Amino acid sequence: MTHRIAVIPGDGIGKEVMPEGLRALDAAAERFGIDLSLEHFDFASCDYYLEHGQMLPDDWFEQLKDVDAIFYGAVGWPETVPDHISLWGSLLQFRRRFDQYVNLRPCRLLPGIKSPLADRRPGDIDFYVVRENTEGEYSSVGGRMFEGTDREVVIQETVMTRTGVDRVLKYAFDLAQTRPRRKLTSATKSNGIAITMPWWDERVKAMGKNYPEVSVDQFHIDILTANFVMHPDWFDVVVASNLFGDILSDLGPACTGTIGVAPSANINPDGIFPSLFEPVHGSAPDIAGRGIANPIGQVWSAAMMLEHLGHQDAGKAIVDAFEAVLAEGDKAVLTPDVSGHGTTETLGRAIAERIAG
Ligand code: NAI
Ligand code: MG
Repeated sequence: MTHRIAVIPGDGIGKEVMPEGLRALDAAAERFGIDLSLEHFDFASCDYYLEHGQMLPDDWFEQLKDVDAIFYGAVGWPETVPDHISLWGSLLQFRRRFDQYVNLRPCRLLPGIKSPLADRRPGDIDFYVVRENTEGEYSSVGGRMFEGTDREVVIQETVMTRTGVDRVLKYAFDLAQTRPRRKLTSATKSNGIAITMPWWDERVKAMGKNYPEVSVDQFHIDILTANFVMHPDWFDVVVASNLFGDILSDLGPACTGTIGVAPSANINPDGIFPSLFEPVHGSAPDIAGRGIANPIGQVWSAAMMLEHLGHQDAGKAIVDAFEAVLAEGDKAVLTPDVSGHGTTETLGRAIAERIAG
């Protein structure tokens, strides 16, 4: 069976880390006999926008809907295209039209990386954030009236549906069920947001009835963020609405040292549409063009993609490889964000060599 993969590097360091993500992917495919067919696209980037006046071609949906997965770099170049245009015109279109309703982010403290939290070592931080990715606070219901006058009013409604909330909760409970600790934490704010959030809590309780082996707790989002910092060892699987999940899924990886290593998956669990795999970080204009971006976020995303496609062994080989290279700590190989003086390519090559075995 051949897996069709759409490859979209995007902007800035997306174009620099993508080749290393592909190098790792190739090495794993070779070693485990996986047949990949890569299709390269230049859209969903600001360069494409400057040439065509839009982020995506009109037929992007047709072009992408039948691939097995999308492997994405990063989008955004605020100097030439405002961020809300580049993001809404690309990534958010994919997430919505392909109904990628789960955003999954592992938060794991890796060997050789110093956590900004004092005295935390590998093993202390190892959890997943599961973010609802299609509705909630990020809705297009609302508007502005009386613009520019004293009566100016803006409204944006939160939209939660039973379908939308139950399916992401089910994904999170299923994931918790497969983990040794079998623990699920729900992010809420039912004290302050007194309509949608008490209802969210009800749905968590109802779904939990199907998973008697999973222990469930919940925190209001404000103290939950504090607990991510003070007690990251408390967490196993954390499920959250779109906005809360957005915040937690940056904070979680930040607690594990560098944003450069964090991966993410935008998943359509039903398999009707392709899922999308990308590093958590953006296009990093401040370091773009210097060849020093850490490629591990892209490489780890490749591992998540292979696992999603059913190749658990290949995914694990990639993760084992970058963990080994990090643990080795060769400064000539590692990128500056993990206190080395190597380049995107030296680190990418070292990882690919390990994968090859
Ligand atoms: P960013 O993630 O691009 O950069 C934040 C900081 O982390 C910068 O100092 C950067 O140098 C550093 N950094 C990021 N990735 C790194 C890596 N692999 N290795 C070493 N250091 C790394 O976020 P920022 O600056 O807020 O946004 C820049 C652009 O990226 C904007 O246009 C934004 O809209 C876009 N963006 C896109 C995302 C995506 O494609 N999913 C996600 C976040 C931002
Ligand atoms: Mg974010």
